[in-house]
Amino acid sequence: MKPLLTANNLSVQFGGLKAVNNVSFEVWPNEVFSLIGPNGAGKTTIFNLISGLYRPTAGFVTFEGEKISRLAPYEIARLGIARTFQNIELFEHATVLQNLLVGRHCHRHTSWWQDLLFTPRVRQTELQFRRAIEEVIEFLELQHYRDSMVAGLPYGVRKVVELGRALAMRPKLLLLDEPSSGLNVEETEDMGFWIEDIKHDLGITVIMVEHDMGLVSRVSDRVFALNQGEELAVGTAAEVQSHPAVIEAYLGGAEDDGPPPGPRPGGGGDGGSPPEGGSMPHAAGGKHV
Ligand SMILES: Nc1ncnc2c1ncn2[C@@H]1O[C@H](COP(=O)(O)OP(=O)(O)OP(=O)(O)O)[C@@H](O)[C@H]1O
Ligand SMILES: [Mg+2]
Repeated sequence: MKPLLTANNLSVQFGGLKAVNNVSFEVWPNEVFSLIGPNGAGKTTIFNLISGLYRPTAGFVTFEGEKISRLAPYEIARLGIARTFQNIELFEHATVLQNLLVGRHCHRHTSWWQDLLFTPRVRQTELQFRRAIEEVIEFLELQHYRDSMVAGLPYGVRKVVELGRALAMRPKLLLLDEPSSGLNVEETEDMGFWIEDIKHDLGITVIMVEHDMGLVSRVSDRVFALNQGEELAVGTAAEVQSHPAVIEAYLGGAEDDGPPPGPRPGGGGDGGSPPEGGSMPHAAGGKHV
């Protein structure tokens, strides 16, 4: 079996800051691979490198055996990599359905003049989109909200809509940046079910950035821990959590920066939030680490 995605000595530097430093890993088809680490560790930056928002200063990413680090974000999306954002990124003043249709946009292969004339091919494509969207709506049980304005929806539902927008692209690889942030315990549990179903029923590979170690332990096949842009450990959730370098990184963060952060609805920025410190990772049901 060949890896679906590889990161090869990946580095990116912002001024003097090595946000990601010589990171390598491979992600196998149909696994859930989680990235953990204290705030500012470089997790979102790795997502930005994979999805083409940042260019690596060294190293490269492959997807299905091809180097993708020089491609534009829309080209990478077209290859089958979709993502959600640490801060929900939806069109607030559009309906759920309209937001999901935007997710399908990357798969349009009709030209502008065909669109203008509404040719049979356009009509056919449009019908296929609608069918794909209806499948996503059914899969995520969003029927009740399909015509609701996103702005009026509870945070937990918006989070599911964002997941739906990514799934509507019918990706091979899904990047989830903190899927549980801002969710209560019950919603986090539901998110765990969706992720398991996405893997088992849809056969989609997932890379997840997550602070909730209960969720990480539950859904991950393997976990990769990093701190200050560098690998600390990789293995099962239990192996990584008990790794001395991981314990040290979280304890160090807590000592340096005070108490662990509480839940942060939409917290942090996709361009990176300042380090906020961390707390000990623990497997059983705890929220943020
Ligand atoms: N575009 C950028 N310009 C400058 N610095 C950046 C940029 N993007 C990220 N960084 C910095 O890189 C480091 C890693 O940020 P990143 O957002 O990847 O952390 P993270 O592990 O996702 O943290 P969190 O858990 O808080 O989301 C941080 O110090 C951040 O400030
Ligand atoms: Mg982040």
